[in-house]
Amino acid sequence: MTKYNINLLVSEADEKLKAVGIDAGKAEAEIILCDLLDVERLELYLNGPSLLDDNIVKSYYEIIEKRLTRYPLQYILGSAWFYGRKFLVDENVMVPCPETELLLESVLRTARLSKSSPVRLLDIGTGSGVVSASSKLENPELDVTASDISTEALKVAQSNARQFGVEENIKWIQSDLFDNIDPNSRFDIIASNPPYIADDTYDTLPPEVKADPTLSLLGGNKGMEIIERLLKQAPDFLNRPGTLIFEIGYDQAEIIFDLVDNNSSYSKCMLLKDLANIDRIVICKTA
Ligand SMILES: C[S@@+](CC[C@H](N)C(=O)[O-])C[C@H]1O[C@@H](n2cnc3c(N)ncnc32)[C@H](O)[C@@H]1O
Repeated sequence: MTKYNINLLVSEADEKLKAVGIDAGKAEAEIILCDLLDVERLELYLNGPSLLDDNIVKSYYEIIEKRLTRYPLQYILGSAWFYGRKFLVDENVMVPCPETELLLESVLRTARLSKSSPVRLLDIGTGSGVVSASSKLENPELDVTASDISTEALKVAQSNARQFGVEENIKWIQSDLFDNIDPNSRFDIIASNPPYIADDTYDTLPPEVKADPTLSLLGGNKGMEIIERLLKQAPDFLNRPGTLIFEIGYDQAEIIFDLVDNNSSYSKCMLLKDLANIDRIVICKTA
């Protein structure tokens, strides 16, 4: 009979985490135990008790203590889940968000409908590589190029692609947006989750978000500086037809539609909402 009880360990941590403002304390405690025991959540309550030992419980308490400082769980564990896969993350890359899975799904749908062969995708601001690696894994026919201004982020993205066996199948380019992209290159899809938070709202962000690199978060005035450059330059690198797909902040849709309306390179623009019913993904077709 084991001396440890999973329910007790979880509820004890949940209470502590809730006290510092972490609402998903129970889920996080379960994620930590699953990570330490290397089991799926369904197995945790069934097989967990027989796998627990003093060292694992000690590590569990240490992780909870660190998490109580509101340091992101994903950086503590060194990993984050995206589209059913476990990606490595560190402080050089933003922790991938569930909303970005919508960006990936839009990329995959657009690729499926494309008549190009191969379909060429450029992922700008690849970060941990979640969009580029997942795209290649979900659709191995895609010709994927991933870029980021940060060489440190690119190293993380490459490690992730390597663990999934697709590093050599993706082209990697360090670039400030399109600066180092061959001007003769043409892509069918340009995807990006750019930094889109307004500089002057930084102080209002939760501690977990502030732990992300500022390069990943801040988009200048109204969070629009990178998006404006992206909208302006992307048509020079898109095939006709071609599609620019990017993630936006909750209050940016209107201003982006105005910019697209005034840009004759685009024929139409659509919006997708996330699960919280917030405008999240913009899809622009080249004229
Ligand atoms: C919001 S994060 C997105 C990371 C990843 N694609 C994801 O969805 O989790 C934005 C990324 O854009 C990169 N970035 C910021 N400014 C950039 C620029 N001017 N050119 C290219 N990449 C940039 C950052 O380094 C960061 O990795």
